[in-house]
Parts: sequence; C-alpha cells; structure tokens
Amino acid sequence: MNVDELKSVAGAIVAQQKGILAADESNPTIKKRFDSIKLESTEENRRRYRELLFTAEGIERYLGGVILFDETLRQSSRDGTPFAELLSRRGIIPGIKVDKGAKALAMYSGDQITEGLDGLRERLAEYKQLGAKFAKWRGVIQIDQHDIPSAYALHANAHALARYAALCQEAGIVPIVEPEVLMDGPHDMDRCEVVTSHMLEILFAELDAHRVIFEGILLKPNMVIAGMKCTHESNVQQVADATTRCLRRYVPSAVPGIVFLSGGQSAEDATDHLNAMNAMGSYPWQLSFSYGRALQAPVLNVWHGKESNVAMAQKVFFKRCQLNGLAREGKYNRTMETDK
Ligand code: 13P
Repeated sequence: MNVDELKSVAGAIVAQQKGILAADESNPTIKKRFDSIKLESTEENRRRYRELLFTAEGIERYLGGVILFDETLRQSSRDGTPFAELLSRRGIIPGIKVDKGAKALAMYSGDQITEGLDGLRERLAEYKQLGAKFAKWRGVIQIDQHDIPSAYALHANAHALARYAALCQEAGIVPIVEPEVLMDGPHDMDRCEVVTSHMLEILFAELDAHRVIFEGILLKPNMVIAGMKCTHESNVQQVADATTRCLRRYVPSAVPGIVFLSGGQSAEDATDHLNAMNAMGSYPWQLSFSYGRALQAPVLNVWHGKESNVAMAQKVFFKRCQLNGLAREGKYNRTMETDK
C-alpha cells in the first residue's frame, strides 16, 4: 500500500467543483429505476444507459469519480472501449461497489447488516486489475420505534465497514465508507442527528482500531434531515446547520472529503442543502456529493429508453452535475434550475 497514492486519489475525486456520480445500482435496484420509466432491465439496456451517462459532454469538469457495479465495470461502450478506460481517459476515476447488500441482522428484528466480506481481498485484487481505484461499501441504518437501530447494529455495521476499509487500503484502493441512516419513516431531525452522531462516533473508533488511515478514505454519510413521513418539515438552513454541527463533532479533520448520498431527497433539495453547507464557511474536509438518484432521476425521466432522447438526457445530466459543482462552492441558487 502506498499512502501517498491513496491520498492523491481521494484528493482528486473531491478536487475543486468535483464530486461523484453513484451509478452502482445493483441489478435489482436498476430494475426498480427502469420500472419507473417502463423500460425492461436487460443487460443491453443497462449498458446503453450507463454509456449515455459516461459519454455526456463536459461532465469531467464536475465529476472526479463514478462508482460502478460489477457488471458495468466489465462492460464497454458501443465502440468497444471498456467503461473504466473511457472514464479514465476523460480524467474521471472509476470506482466499484463491493458490498453484497444489506440483510436482516439475526436476532435483531428491524436492524440490518451488510454482507460481502468473505473473499473480498481476492475480489479487490481483480477490481484493481480491471481499473478501479476506489470502492464503496454501504451500511444501512434504519430508524424505527425507540429501540431501532440497536446499539449492537451500529457496532456490527461499523465493524464491517472498518474491515472493508482496511482491506481496500491494503490493496491500494481508496475506501468510501458509507454509513447510511435512512430517511424512510416518520422520525424528526433531532432523532436523525442523535443516530447519525452515534454511528459516526462508533465508526471512527472502529476504523482507528483497524488501523485504517483516515487521510486515505472518503466518508459518505446521510445529511441530518427529517424522515420522509415526518410531519415537521425542516428548511434548508436547518439541515445545513444540523449536518455540519454533527460532522464537525464526529469526523476527524484528517479525512480529506465528505461526499453525501442523496437518500431520497429531490434533486433540487440535495443540491440546495450541499450549497447551503458550503456557503456557510470552510471546513477541515471537502464537502461534496456522491449522488445516485439526485443526479439520475431527472435523466431517466427525459431518456425513457429512447435513442432519440439521448442528447437531451445528456444535457439534463450535464446541468445536474454543473449545479452540484456550483453547490460545492456555495454558488448555486434555485433560480438556476429554470435557466437554459
Ligand atoms: P442516492 O444518492 O440515490 O442515495 O445513492 C447514493 C448511493 O450510492 C447509495 O449507496
């Protein structure tokens, strides 16, 4: 492992104005996205869709990295260029989702644990050969009544994330460490802040215990935000205040970048929240994005699987990347949504 190389890859991904496109939907997840536009999820349709995203003009100004799914890392563009090579040539670093999804945690009804550690060292070696320079593992924390998540679930997920991160760094791959506190449910912002704080505190203790080098990771957290079914809506400034307070308390300054997930927020809200945080001042880490739905939902709605819509869908995608690039500098405002 070369620590300088890890730092340099992490730094390049969150360089000025840049963030990450999460295009690593597993086949069951991309099927759900395609169902929403009534498109069959065949291997070729998935390939065509990823090609649309990866070949959009100008996106390299705002994307430092793209997270791929196993199948996509093995696919190529129409002219036969492997996607990892196509992205690298554009100066966008290819990454790979390596977890195998969240399953029910035995004996803890309502809690989940992410699988995928067995054989991970060997899989990472292969992914590196295929061109991946960073990886992602997502731990899923569900908020429910008083005792969910359990303290044990937070610990089990932190432990798995630390084991994954250490294996990545051993292989010379930058780990994106993603402890996602889900936005589903009726909980309020305060509950989200308590659970997110507790998770981050345990996570960094586990990462430290496993000798993970904080300078060579990226953290991918949720924002501190009310659940989707909460009756008290939170405004943009409240989300920005609570999220930055929580991160300042629990994320060591050695971490080079924090790249938020969008988690079910609308594309505009996700951009607005990131913008508000960056407009408030400077931080020890870069504050950036690693959005899946918030970058892609508007694209799917224009594309609808049709060749004739590709150019327009690529324009919509470029614009979302650009607006998030501006939000990296606190220079976005909602009126830009309607600008041509
Ligand atoms: P969303 O931005 O759609 O939450 O996806 C990000 C991601 O990669 C979740 O693991």
